[in-house]
Formats: sequence, structure tokens, C-alpha cells
Amino acid sequence: MSRNILITGGAGFIGSHVVRLFVTKYPDYRIVNLDKLTYAGNLANLKDIENAPNYHFEKCDICDYDAVRAIFRKYDIDGVIHLAAESHVDRSIKDPFTFARTNVMGTLTLLQSAREYWNGAWDGKLFYHISTDEVYGALELTHPEGIKPPFSTTASSMEHHLAYGTDFFYETTKYNPHSPYSASKASSDHFVRAYHDTYGMPTLVTNCSNNYGPYQFPEKLIPLFINNIRHRKPLPVYGRGENVRDWLYVEDHARAIDVIFHHGKVAETYNIGGFNEWKNIDLIRVVIRTVDRLLGRKEGEDMNLITYVTDRPGHDMRYAIDSSKLQRELGWEPSLQFEEGIEKTVRWYLDNQAWMDNITSGEYEKYYEEMYRNR
Ligand code: NAD
Ligand code: DAU
Repeated sequence: MSRNILITGGAGFIGSHVVRLFVTKYPDYRIVNLDKLTYAGNLANLKDIENAPNYHFEKCDICDYDAVRAIFRKYDIDGVIHLAAESHVDRSIKDPFTFARTNVMGTLTLLQSAREYWNGAWDGKLFYHISTDEVYGALELTHPEGIKPPFSTTASSMEHHLAYGTDFFYETTKYNPHSPYSASKASSDHFVRAYHDTYGMPTLVTNCSNNYGPYQFPEKLIPLFINNIRHRKPLPVYGRGENVRDWLYVEDHARAIDVIFHHGKVAETYNIGGFNEWKNIDLIRVVIRTVDRLLGRKEGEDMNLITYVTDRPGHDMRYAIDSSKLQRELGWEPSLQFEEGIEKTVRWYLDNQAWMDNITSGEYEKYYEEMYRNR
């Protein structure tokens, strides 16, 4: 059983929740957070646990072979949970090289470092790679209007939502990535599996749907829109807002990673999802109503901020994960219903305006403005 765990990308959105969970739940583990601190990495995400005795931080680029190998030796690493990546689809369209470098070469560098350090003594070792449902491509919208109002789903019942289509991504679905981001993630998934098949390294891959919750960088739909509504700025809806995503509360993803890291079967793939499909425009309306209500405004008064803009090139229509294998084999299921999750999320961003201002007052704001000038 791994005890000295290297978590990459721990200063990012999902990584910070995984680090927090492992540091607090497993005081006898040594948790090493390896992060380059790119624009998306933010140590403020981990303020509450940064002084824990079992927590260590290493500022490092996963593409730096010598530095990564030195970290394996320094901490006697026996388990890896790999989340570090370039994660934003729009950025990948503008700058695909950075995505190939970090997501493909960075993953390969980590794999090779682990292989060298573990040197064939695979017992008790694990390389767990966190991936995305976007590698599977896009599903069709067979029920464009939706056959059930989304709030009717009880997440814990694990019933298929079946709101917008009858097809799902399964672990056996063939890879068919469309964006430079998903192509780079697909490539990294293949490298991880190749290290198992070729060298016998114990590996695991999970593919997860859209996460939401605290500490998400405000380039992603939900935090960007919460902040814009607060400041009464336009909400740029791509295309007609018809695209469908399957949303999972980030702490539920972190819990799934914990369960899979400890009990998952080596060389397996597990899909992780919320059974919680939303058409973008419907989700955006819920976010607007929630922000308005929590700010004491008239509920829905900010609907006029919705601004339809040029669509994202190659915009995948629908993602919907079937995560019943994970429920069946390891007993995991989402704990939060969407109403609860979105309320908690909006409340967190409104209560943590300083966290948001630190990000939006700097470089990111310039990037964001330039991106929309060019659209
Ligand atoms: P994020 O962009 O919020 O964080 C990424 C982290 O990786 C940052 O802390 C960044 O500094 C670090 N990083 C980037 N390049 C690095 C490098 N070269 N060396 C070391 N560190 C580097 O991303 P996220 O949304 O938390 O996603 C984490 C992982 O989960 C990614 O692998 C992503 O593909 C996957 N994923 C994300 C979602 C989602 O909805 N956000 C869903 C499924 C899977
Ligand atoms: O499905 C998992 C993936 O989810 C992860 O692998 C990615 O790392 C993560 O970024 C996310 O990708 P998406 O492209 O789905 O997330 P994003 O928040 O960028 O967009 C969600 C939907 O909202 C998508 O259909 C595009 C749309 N959108 C997004 C933004 C930022 C808009 O309409 N307007 C916007 O301004």
C-alpha cells in the first residue's frame, strides 16, 4: 500500500481538493504536492492545510526529468496521483503546443521517472492518472428539449438522467477526441496504459465529467459567470447554449479518487460522472437566479446579461458519463444533488470575493479581455 504519495497539479482546482482530502484523512501518509504554479496553480487554494506535518510542496515542472526524478528519490515516492495538466479547451485552441508539452510529454516524464525509481519492484506501487470524458468525443442530442426537467434527478439514486439522449460514454467507448486539449489527454491516457502493458507498471486511469465547486479558475463556465453576474458584466454564451455537459461536485470527484486509489483494480479504467446533464443555457439560468437571490437582487433580474457569442470551434455537443461500473464495483456514488451543489458553489464564490479578486485583477483579466476582443 502506497504511503508516500506524489499528487501532481495539487495547487489547481481538483488537485487542491484531492490534496486536502488526503492530508486530512490520512495523517500517516506523506503527501507531496508537485506543481509548477502556472496561471491556474494557486497556493491560496491550500491555505488551510499548508502547515500540516504530512504535507509537502515542491514547485516543479512535470516536464523536467531530472527535477521529477530527484523528487521521487527525496520522498521515496510509492504512489502517484497525476492531475497536473493544461485543462482549458479554449486555451488549447489558441496554443496547442503547450498542451502537447505538458499533457503528453509531462505525463511521459512522470511515467519514466516512476519506472526508473521503482525499477521493476512493482509491489505496493501505483501510478493513477486522472483524465477526462472529453477523450470519448461527443454524443448526440437525441432529445433536444430534454425529456425531464433536470432538477427531478436524485443524484444518490444513480438513475440515468436520460434528459437529452439515450447514449452514454462507457469505459469501452472508443476514443475520438476533437479538441487539442482532449487529443493531448487521450495521448497521455494511451501512454499510461502502454506503461502497464509494456513494462508491467501498476496503473489506473479514470475519466471524469465536468467538475464544479470552490477554487475553480474563473475561465471555466460556472465561476466565470458567477463573477460576471456579480459585477453585471456580459455572460458570453457560446453558440446557442444548446450544448450539454454532465456536472459533478468536485468533492465527490475527490472522494471517488480516494476510493479508486485504495480499492481500484490495477490496469482498469473507471468512468466518474454525476448523472446530471444540463444544457448550458438552462444551467446558466439557474446560476443567474441563484446569484441574484443570494445577493438580495430580484431573482432573474440579471437574465439580460446573457450574450450569445461566436461558438467555440469544434464545440462538442453532449457529454454524458455512465459511471455505474464504479458504483457496482467500488460502491461510489455522487453524494450531492445539483440544487445543493450549485447553492454551495455560488455561496462560496460570493463569500470568497478576495480569492476571486486576486486572480481577476492580474494577468488573467488581460488575457480574458484579449480573447473576447479577438472573437
Ligand atoms: P487546473 O487547470 O485547475 O489545474 C491544473 C494544475 O496543474 C495547476 O495547479 C497547474 O499549475 C498545474 N500544472 C500545469 N502544468 C504543469 C506542469 N507542466 N508541471 C506541473 N504542474 C503543472 O485543472 P483541473 O480542472 O483541476 O484539472 C485537473 C486534472 O483533472 C486535469 O488533468 C484535467 O484534465 C482533469 N479533469 C478536469 C475536469 C474538470 O472539469 N475540471 C474534469 C475531468 C478531468
Ligand atoms: O468534461 C470534462 C472537461 O470539462 C474537463 O476535461 C476540462 O478540463 C474542463 O475545462 C471542462 O471542459 P468544458 O469545455 O466542458 O468546460 P468549460 O467550463 O470551458 O465550458 C462548459 C460549457 O460551457 C461548454 O459547452 C462551453 C460553454 N461555455 C464556456 C465558457 C467558458 C460558454 O458557453 N461560455 C463560456 O464563456
